[in-house]
Amino acid sequence: MSDTTQHIYIYSESSWKENRHLFSDSLHSFFSGKKNESFVLASDNETSLLVGIGDSYTENNLTDIGQKFSYDYREKLSAKITFLHADILSSKEIESLLLGFYLGTYLYPFQATHPLWDTEFRWANIEQFDEKYSRIKAICKGQFICMDWLNKPANFKKAPQLSNFIQDKAQEYNFTLTTYNRKQCEELGLGAFLAVNQGSHQEAAFTILEYKSEAKDAPTIGLVGKCVLFDTGGISIKPATNLHYMKSDMGGATAVLGALIAAAEMKLPVNITAILPITDNAVSNNAYLPSDVITAYNGKTIEVIDTDAEGRMTLADGLSYLSKNYKTDYLIDLATLTGSAVRMFGTTCGALFSNDRSLQVQLEESGQKTGQRLWNLPLWEDWEDEIKSDVANLKNISLKPVGDCIVAATFLKHFINDHPKWAHLDIAAMCFGNVIYAKEKAATGYGVRLLIDFIEKL
Ligand code: BES
Ligand code: MG
Ligand code: ZN
Repeated sequence: MSDTTQHIYIYSESSWKENRHLFSDSLHSFFSGKKNESFVLASDNETSLLVGIGDSYTENNLTDIGQKFSYDYREKLSAKITFLHADILSSKEIESLLLGFYLGTYLYPFQATHPLWDTEFRWANIEQFDEKYSRIKAICKGQFICMDWLNKPANFKKAPQLSNFIQDKAQEYNFTLTTYNRKQCEELGLGAFLAVNQGSHQEAAFTILEYKSEAKDAPTIGLVGKCVLFDTGGISIKPATNLHYMKSDMGGATAVLGALIAAAEMKLPVNITAILPITDNAVSNNAYLPSDVITAYNGKTIEVIDTDAEGRMTLADGLSYLSKNYKTDYLIDLATLTGSAVRMFGTTCGALFSNDRSLQVQLEESGQKTGQRLWNLPLWEDWEDEIKSDVANLKNISLKPVGDCIVAATFLKHFINDHPKWAHLDIAAMCFGNVIYAKEKAATGYGVRLLIDFIEKL
C-alpha cells in the first residue's frame, strides 16, 4: 500500500472526450469531466483520482473546485508526493487549483492534519514553482488564522485571549504592537470606542499593529477592522433568534489580521498599519444609552440613537486615530457593519464605498479575481441629511428605515480626516455563512485573499 503512487487527473468535459479512450470503456458512464465530479481508480501500485472542472472554469472557480475535492477526500488521500496531470491548465490556473487543494485542508472544529497539507505536487512544467508554493501556503496560513478566530465560541474569544494571540503573532512576525486599555483610551480621548466598551466586563483593547517591509518607497496602507467580539446590540438589544451568529462581528478584524500575517509571511514590499478596536457590545448597567452624546477622538460629537449601531462608533475612532497619527497612501476599513448590506446583496458580495475612483476599481478587480467580490455603492451628499442631529454634530443612525449601509458609510466619512483614498467594505454576510467544512454557518475567510491581491498589485 505504501508503495502506491498517487495521481490526480484534471479533465474538462471536452478534454475528457478527447482522452477517455485511454481509460477502460466501462468507466465512461461514471465520469464525464463535469465540474466537481470525481472518480477513483485504484490498483495495487497506483491510485488515480479523476477530477472534473467542467468547460467554463475560471481561475477563481478552480480554487473552489480544488477546495471541495480536497475536503471531500480528506480521509482518503495520502500525504505523499502526488503527480498532477493537468495539461489543459496554464501555470496560473494550476496555482489557483493548488490554492484550493490547500484551502480545502481546513478542518473544524479540530485542527487535525489533512493529508494534502503535507503533500507535494509534481507535474510536467513544475519549474520555478517554489515561490508560488510559499505564496499559497502563506495565504492559507493567514486565512486559517482568520477563520479560527471567527469560529471560536464567544467565551473563547474574550479581549485578553485575542490580545495574547496578537502579542504572540507580533513577536513571530516582528510587528510593532501597541495596545491601549480603557484608562489609556480615556487619556487619548477615544470616546466613541469607549462608549461601546463601557458596558463591557472586559478591558478595552485598542490595538495597533505595524508591519514594515525593507523595501524603499513602499506604499503605505492603513487598515481598520471592526472587532466587536460579540454584538448583543447593547441596551437596544437584539432579538434572541440567531443571536449566536453575532460572535462573527469581528469578521473585519480577522480579515485584516489574516491579510497582515499572509503579507508578512510573503514579505510583501508594503508598509501596513492596522487598527483593531477590540471590545464587545454588552448589555449591562454600565452600558451606554440611547440619547447619550459622545465626543469622538476627532472632537466631533455623536448622538447615540441606537446602541446596536456600535460598529460605526468603534470604527469612527479607529479611522480618526489612524488618519491623524499615520501618513498612509490608502485607508481601508472592513466591517460586518449592517444588516442592510446583508439584505441587499445576501452572500453574493460585500458593499463597497470609496471616495477614490481608482481605489474603487482596484478593489472591485481584486474581488472579482479572488471570488471575494465587492459591489460599489454611492457616497452622495444627499445622505448627509439623514445623520444630522439637534444635539450633536451627528447621530449614529437615520430615523428612516432605508439604506442603512449607505447611512453608515456616510457617517464614517466624517472620521477619515479628508483622506483622499479611503474605502469602506461592509462585509456583514460575507465573513460567516455556508461553508463546505461545517454543518452550521461558519467562517468563510472572506477578505484575506481580496486584500492580499489588492496589496500585491500596488
Ligand atoms: N453587527 C451588526 C451588523 C450585522 C448584521 C452583522 C447581520 C452580521 C450580520 C451591527 O452592529 C448592527 O447591529 N447593525 C444594525 C444597525 C441598526 C441598529 C441601524 C442592523 O443592521 O440591524
Ligand atoms: Mg450592532
Ligand atoms: Zn455589530
